[in-house]
Amino acid sequence: MVRKGPLRGCVRVPGDKSIAHRALLMAAMAEGTSRIEGLPASDDVLATARAIESLGARVSVEGPSSLADLGHRSGVPCDDAAPAPSAGARPPAFTALVEGWGASGPRTPDAPLDCGNSGTTARLLMGVLAPWPVEALITGDDSLRRRPMGRVASPLCAMGASVSASGSAARVDRLPELFLPLRFKGASSAKGVTWDSPISSAQVKSAVLLAGSLAGGTTSFSEPAPSRDHTERMLPLFGVEVRTVGGRLVVEGGRRLRAADVSVPADPSSAAFFLAAAVLSEGSRVRAQGVGLNPGRIAYLDVLGCMGARVSVRAALASAAEPVGSIEAAFTPSLVSVETDPGLSASIIDEVPVLALVASKALGTSVFRSVGELRNKESDRLAGIVGLLGLLGVVAYEEGDDLVVEGRGRWSASDARPFSPEGDHRLAMTALVAKAAGASVSVLDAACVKVSYPGFLTDMERLMS
Ligand code: S3P
Repeated sequence: MVRKGPLRGCVRVPGDKSIAHRALLMAAMAEGTSRIEGLPASDDVLATARAIESLGARVSVEGPSSLADLGHRSGVPCDDAAPAPSAGARPPAFTALVEGWGASGPRTPDAPLDCGNSGTTARLLMGVLAPWPVEALITGDDSLRRRPMGRVASPLCAMGASVSASGSAARVDRLPELFLPLRFKGASSAKGVTWDSPISSAQVKSAVLLAGSLAGGTTSFSEPAPSRDHTERMLPLFGVEVRTVGGRLVVEGGRRLRAADVSVPADPSSAAFFLAAAVLSEGSRVRAQGVGLNPGRIAYLDVLGCMGARVSVRAALASAAEPVGSIEAAFTPSLVSVETDPGLSASIIDEVPVLALVASKALGTSVFRSVGELRNKESDRLAGIVGLLGLLGVVAYEEGDDLVVEGRGRWSASDARPFSPEGDHRLAMTALVAKAAGASVSVLDAACVKVSYPGFLTDMERLMS
């Protein structure tokens, strides 16, 4: 049951989802056994672990749990009014030993690869498979089957892979576009590509670089504005050099990845919810520890800073080629509006919903520029945030690809209104933050937080005790 704050104390949020997916996939591609610690036991990351197992990597979990066991344990109740679970809940983190397929390559799986809700799993997997003579049916849940796959299939097909739609296209209004389920076929003759992506997407970039490191020849990639760079940082740990040449990323093909040990830092995007809750809730002060401080992931702190929020960062050390440290946030009674630069949108894309919530408590009109990609996430997040803020009595609307929030320094006090996050973990957590900060809202179906953060409600409760 989420009640009104304050939130006080330290929190160690689960491991970074983006880094965890990449570590598992690169370990699967590598020769030898990699040890990956700090993996979050979240649905998305478990989907990647299961997919690489189906493709022939050997995954074992250190300690008493198995992969199947982690997936089956419950993590959260169904709505925010139910009691938090205790016995039998998933552990927040686990360590996996992954014996990769290396030079023998992945095997053709005997069942569809079900990526669940995870776009990163589906898109990066295609890059992993592209340079091998294997065929796999890639699918996911209803939400993932509505998300565009053409952006990643196009460069991979230019390299030599092929895809065919299996089943009917989910969204006839947005054709031509490719949707899961897709039958994906790689090719051992795959060749490097020079690709200028029309969108900034770390998933597209990663798929191309992973494929390019094994394909023949050179692969070179550019995107309009920089997206998160975890793949470029991690590939060298597995023995593959990535160069930057004239603003493009370049990788030479025909490489062999060798096993590496990776320690996954805590996820700054998950930490953002508690930090925002602290900023909004009177009497709060929260410190998130051991968090990844990759500049491409903590740009949301600059946005909070521009709103006048009391946030500070302390860098400590590097892990998995990533900077790590702690972030602290405290209640800020008066916030001001903000206008974000279009070039920043890829770096704050996962935090826009919770930033918009903070902006809704600021005085003045905030504009988040060029955030149309939010429509392609686990749900249409632009519609979701506009709907949530509407329940709080705040005027918010889409203007082209911009999101406008007319903050009045307060939310309306009314009877609690129900909000459905439509199965979207980040919208559910944003609404739970609003509730902790005193908003009159009840969150239906909060169980979807397990996609990235199974223990979210438990941790929030602990910060309030
Ligand atoms: C991710 C990249 C982003 C982000 C997603 C995770 C990744 O998506 O929104 O949550 O791990 O590469 P796009 O690449 O589609 O921008």
